[in-house]
Amino acid sequence: MTFIVAIDGPAAAGKGTISKAVAAEFGLAHLDTGLLYRAVGFKVMSGADPIAAANALNPLDLEHDDLRTANVAQFASQVAVIPEVRSALVNFQRSFATQASGAVLDGRDIGTVICPDADIKLFVTASPEVRANRRFQELSAKGAKTTYEKVLNEVVERDMRDSTRSDAPMRAAAEAIVIDTSELTIESAIQTACDLIRSKQSA
Ligand code: CDP
Repeated sequence: MTFIVAIDGPAAAGKGTISKAVAAEFGLAHLDTGLLYRAVGFKVMSGADPIAAANALNPLDLEHDDLRTANVAQFASQVAVIPEVRSALVNFQRSFATQASGAVLDGRDIGTVICPDADIKLFVTASPEVRANRRFQELSAKGAKTTYEKVLNEVVERDMRDSTRSDAPMRAAAEAIVIDTSELTIESAIQTACDLIRSKQSA
């Protein structure tokens, strides 16, 4: 039987770190669905048509080194409002989710649209300031020249676009369990998520 963990939440809330740890702990495959939108955004940055780029997306496109930049993130959230871009990416995400080994998918609409029947739905969030600070540290560690204020503005702008778009807006599914990581260490956020999943598995 497949086991699906859906993890949604705003930019830089810790979804990626928690998802990777959960996947390792429970032996599940992991898909960072943000990478799909980043890969389409990356192609659009170099002149491609967003819908054509989404339809032609290849798993190898997700391995490109430059997908994690702040600029690509803005392009990603702009292409993510286009319904045809989103629908082009649905099948890939659903087939990934239903693989026999079970899967964890993180994104914005996993619990609401992509996997409404997921076994457990988490919504990972944190204050904009905490998220911007984490993303600023991450980007600076990779050598990006930016400031905390710029990153905060970008994160807030992206959250606004992601939560107000008409197709698959970012929101917690009705039955999602919210984990606010503002005051949690990475270890305790992971522990909280793993405990919730374990209790669901044994229920
Ligand atoms: O890593 P971070 O949380 O900053 O962003 P991401 O998960 O890589 O997602 C980049 C952008 O892709 C988001 O701002 C959304 O606009 C879009 N996205 C989406 O619309 N639906 C998803 N399931 C995942 C990402």
